[in-house]
Amino acid sequence: MQTLKNKKVFLTGHTGFKGAWLTFMLHQMGAEVMGYSLSPNTNPSLFEVLHGENLCHSVIGDIRDTEHLHKCMTNFQPDIVFHLAAQPIVRTSYQIPAETFEVNAIGTANVLDGIRLLDNPCVGVMITTDKVYQNNETGQAYKEDDRFGGYDPYSASKACAELVIDSYRKSFFNPADYGKHQKAIASARAGNVIGGGDWAADRLIPDIVRALSKGEAVQIRNPKAVRPWQHVLEPLSGYILLAQKLMEDPIRYAEGFNFGPNPADTLTVEAMTQMATEIWGGGTFVFPNLTNQPHEAGLLSLDITKAEKVLGWRPHFNARKALEMTLEWYKTYYKKESSIMEVMRKQTSAFNFPNNN
Ligand SMILES: NC(=O)c1ccc[n+]([C@@H]2O[C@H](COP(=O)([O-])OP(=O)(O)OC[C@H]3O[C@@H](n4cnc5c(N)ncnc54)[C@H](O)[C@@H]3O)[C@@H](O)[C@H]2O)c1
Repeated sequence: MQTLKNKKVFLTGHTGFKGAWLTFMLHQMGAEVMGYSLSPNTNPSLFEVLHGENLCHSVIGDIRDTEHLHKCMTNFQPDIVFHLAAQPIVRTSYQIPAETFEVNAIGTANVLDGIRLLDNPCVGVMITTDKVYQNNETGQAYKEDDRFGGYDPYSASKACAELVIDSYRKSFFNPADYGKHQKAIASARAGNVIGGGDWAADRLIPDIVRALSKGEAVQIRNPKAVRPWQHVLEPLSGYILLAQKLMEDPIRYAEGFNFGPNPADTLTVEAMTQMATEIWGGGTFVFPNLTNQPHEAGLLSLDITKAEKVLGWRPHFNARKALEMTLEWYKTYYKKESSIMEVMRKQTSAFNFPNNN
């Protein structure tokens, strides 16, 4: 398996929740990382808690600023690109729909154009979501070749990103012509990710932790919504493995992959909240009577057979363990922030990453 030690990694979205975890992991693996994103958009933010600027070359920039983005990419000449930067919140996408399409779909094209401009061989792992599939709410677990679609602007913008990725893969990075362009692009679709250090608005775990840490009742918006819950280290391990496989065999793995939990961990919001209050050691939750709420999917699950069979990837933790790790992180943060790196080192090492060194 390809090592990431000394590999040059260009990571968009490094100041966000998943991007900061990935920066931490890549740093541990000895990669040289250039991060490219807007400034952290939550307060506190995981990137700042980690002093992320010490773990990578951190560039604050907008993926819509093509001149700046492409200059950074061509100067750096990465071996690997992980594209995570996005407007990732469904409810926000109802407030800024056009901007969500611009960042998520056109922004993805801009990053792919950046890859086109590189002189060296490069592999790209483009991050979309479980919400790219046309959701008919039947409870079916979506497979990689199911039809794309999206009701809300966020889901539709990520479905658009998938079409953009597929078009670039066929038009410019076609595996049949790999010898000419030496670029290989895959996309990764993960489920609802939980883990320490997420402070985004309108996400279940940050909402729970904000309420419990203040001794308030947790307000649950969509108790019956069913989601594929997983610890953040699960999809991130999948993204890293996919990049390694692409470097090994750029023709075979240049496709889309689902990285979700086992079927038993596709649970309701209510079940997750119940479990979280138990693990936290107390707390109550209420269901406010909300009317005129924007539509959000009721039922969502992913089929992960392809990642298991083709990549040899599989989830390590069930939802309870993922919640325990997540709440361990927040409890440490609120008691003794200086021990956070220790907790993250423990959580990543327990995970046994492919080729972690
Ligand atoms: N968190 C989840 O449950 C989840 C699930 C599935 C997919 N995803 C996807 O994973 C990725 C990361 O999500 P996250 O949870 O870390 O989100 P986040 O909001 O914490 O981070 C988003 C990152 O994107 C950057 N960004 C946003 N707009 C930008 C722009 N115009 N130019 C440059 N950078 C910009 C932000 O600065 C930040 O670094 C996203 O692509 C998201 O759609 C997340």
